[in-house]
Amino acid sequence: MRVPAKLNLQLAVGPPRADGYHDLVTVFHAVSLFDEITAEPAASDGVSVRGEGADQVPEDGDNLALRAVAALRAAAAPADAGGVHITIVKRIPVAAGLAGGSADAAAALVACNELWDVGLGQPELLEIAAGVGSDVAFALLGGTAVGRGRGERLTPALAPATPYHWVLAFAEGHLSTPEVYGTLDRLRAAEAERSGRKRMPGPVLAPALDGALMSALRSADARQLGPALSNDLQPAALSLFPALRKTLAAGLELGALGALVSGSGPTCMFLAASADRALDLAASLSGAGVCRSVARATGPVPGAAVVPTVR
Ligand code: C5P
Repeated sequence: MRVPAKLNLQLAVGPPRADGYHDLVTVFHAVSLFDEITAEPAASDGVSVRGEGADQVPEDGDNLALRAVAALRAAAAPADAGGVHITIVKRIPVAAGLAGGSADAAAALVACNELWDVGLGQPELLEIAAGVGSDVAFALLGGTAVGRGRGERLTPALAPATPYHWVLAFAEGHLSTPEVYGTLDRLRAAEAERSGRKRMPGPVLAPALDGALMSALRSADARQLGPALSNDLQPAALSLFPALRKTLAAGLELGALGALVSGSGPTCMFLAASADRALDLAASLSGAGVCRSVARATGPVPGAAVVPTVR
């Protein structure tokens, strides 16, 4: 199985809800940076992780892929479904704002659905995925899609599948998603205090889909898309990780059409006008010393998919 990383082309965040989550309107976009997952019958459920950032991924029941296995088992697995060992080869950096853990969970769902011959279709898998984590359903679906609710209610975007060329700058360090959301809440409360309001009135913060961004996607126009990229979490990520300001500025100076922190960060994403421009930008950014490493990716790509094993 291989499963892609995601970027958020728009991430509009509402106020915190009673359950601790935030209502979102987001435009997810799956890109060609993949983790590889295999599922094999075993005496008991387990997981092993290799590759980029593997030492930071738990190999116990906290592992999101194992949580997905448990969720599928509880929801739909036949009584005689045996144990499964999941092997994850990571290329998507961990805690980087690219939903790598959610990707692994989505792949584990699809893999066990096959292994146990459960026969669930995409709608049922999407429902189980939504219970495992906010971004897991999108990792199943892939492409470009609007996410609402916690991000789990998805509508595929009606846009041509013309590829966009992205450069990703991986940071030296990590950000915790709950911490970034918490920082956004505090920044907004402080801003409301300064402007003399006790609380931001609800409608001011109600997240809404960006018309300019959707129009850029419909016309497959990278020049229009670049300036329309937006992320409400970016100020919070920058306040926790100030060095990212330099990374974003460097990318724009080097000719990126748009620059944004990806999700809760700290990965920064840059849109390039063509494959050649992406190659130049990637080389210049890695020479500029403003990040740990650089990768190129194109999007949109499909979600979690079974790939034949080549032996
Ligand atoms: O759902 P998931 O486990 O991926 O979310 C991780 C954390 O991110 C949540 O515990 C929450 O703190 C934050 N989050 C949020 N609102 C969302 C999605 C995630 O506050 N819509």
